[in-house]
Amino acid sequence: MKRTHPQRLEREHLLAVLNAVDEAIHIVDADGYTVFYNDQAARFERLEVHDMIGKHVLQAYPSLRPADSTLLEVLRTGHPVLNRQQTFTTEKGHTVTVLSSTFPVFRGKELIGAVDISRDITKVRELLEKIVLLQDRCSRLARGGVQADAIRTARFTFSDIVGENAQLEKIKALAVRAAQATVPVFVFGETGTGKELFAQSIHNAGPRRDRPFIAQNCAAIPGELLESILFGSVRGAFTGAHDRPGLFEAADGGTLFLDELASMPVPLQAKLLRALEDGYIRRVGGLRPIPVDVRILASSNEDPALAVREGRLRQDLFARLSSVCLQLPPLRERRDDIPLLVDHFLAKHHPEERGRPELAREVLEFFGSYEWPGNVRELEGAIRGALVLGWGEPVLRAEHLPAYLVRPDAPGGGQRENQTLRSLLESYEKGIIRRALARAGGNISEAARSLGLPRQTLQYRLRMLDREDRRVGTEFANKP
Ligand SMILES: Nc1ncnc2c1ncn2[C@@H]1O[C@H](COP(=O)(O)OP(=O)(O)OP(=O)(O)O)[C@@H](O)[C@H]1O
Ligand SMILES: [Mg+2]
Repeated sequence: MKRTHPQRLEREHLLAVLNAVDEAIHIVDADGYTVFYNDQAARFERLEVHDMIGKHVLQAYPSLRPADSTLLEVLRTGHPVLNRQQTFTTEKGHTVTVLSSTFPVFRGKELIGAVDISRDITKVRELLEKIVLLQDRCSRLARGGVQADAIRTARFTFSDIVGENAQLEKIKALAVRAAQATVPVFVFGETGTGKELFAQSIHNAGPRRDRPFIAQNCAAIPGELLESILFGSVRGAFTGAHDRPGLFEAADGGTLFLDELASMPVPLQAKLLRALEDGYIRRVGGLRPIPVDVRILASSNEDPALAVREGRLRQDLFARLSSVCLQLPPLRERRDDIPLLVDHFLAKHHPEERGRPELAREVLEFFGSYEWPGNVRELEGAIRGALVLGWGEPVLRAEHLPAYLVRPDAPGGGQRENQTLRSLLESYEKGIIRRALARAGGNISEAARSLGLPRQTLQYRLRMLDREDRRVGTEFANKP
């Protein structure tokens, strides 16, 4: 049989290929009108191919703004956009999430259109969102959070902020003043310095104290999901059949605390700023503007100026949120508060006054020279741990501290010139003997055997260490 045009690819061939692939393909002309739309795309978006042909992108997807459409972006710039995740609502009201790449089409030098190739990841996103919500819920429960969802009640007030350090007092006074108004407050400081404590206290001291306080850690949720968590999503979006309000709506009239703001994706920061300026939000995939009245508190555990310089925090958003900006000092810069904090945490974790132990002088000295990279949280943890390990003892000693703390290579260590070598060695030795005794069920002969010591030697060491303890204990007790 003779073939007339063996090399020619017929239009039908092309159509067969374009309709056989798994990806959705959408081609527009130079003005943004649809010239081709494959069967897969129609299935994803639950639209009809013949309805789409000849329709403009913005008409087909009314929830898209010109700036959000990758097809229009490529027509504008002539450059491809690769692997962009987009969520939009179709003319028929279905919300879809796709991962798409969009390419310009040139004839010679003339841009004659754009092709969008995308995969439906609605299901993937739906699952991802569920996982994240569950994880968030679990971690809140694990942290002893009272609430199982994002709605945290603000438990702390300014009177819970312990400290008389001059710098801290100044910051507290500023925060108290800021709390009365509804201006945004930006709090920054290292981990464990009390940012959440301040945020909750500000809410509780202000006119919105009876309204919700909602905290969201922007670093805990993948950026793509944060948007729907903050702004909500519409029916048919990702979490089943119902419309879901976001945290903005849940916090209406109250306070939204955006923890770790600099971890929010920069494009979302732009949307956040727009929402704050406009006073209303739109749910993801939704059209309807929803007015919201929310006081924003934000935090970061690094200097926001650095995050702005490095392009991770938008300058305009930071400017909007930092009418009042509080920098919380690390614990090593307010060591004068350590004794006060120690008493506070001893009382907090040993509420009964009878039998409440004190800290040995060696421990207080160590606390005074340690670097505290985890700040107040780390101090609280050390005291809580010592109360457990030294349960029933009148004096808590170095051996009762968490093991990582007293190791010479501890993260904030190397600053213990105040502690004598002798006291370090003694506490180390006591730890070893204590563990050997515990393993041997208190049997001295057996413990001595396991340590490779004669029984008498172990007994002698025990007497010596005991005498030393009593000396330290009495000295501590006699301190003014
Ligand atoms: N001045 C303080 N007085 C009493 N407790 C404090 C103080 N500062 C911090 N804490 C306690 O330390 C712990 C950590 O505080 P918080 O959660 O506010 O820190 P953070 O700055 O938000 O830390 P992160 O950056 O890790 O989230 C909490 O248990 C809090 O109660
Ligand atoms: Mg925090």
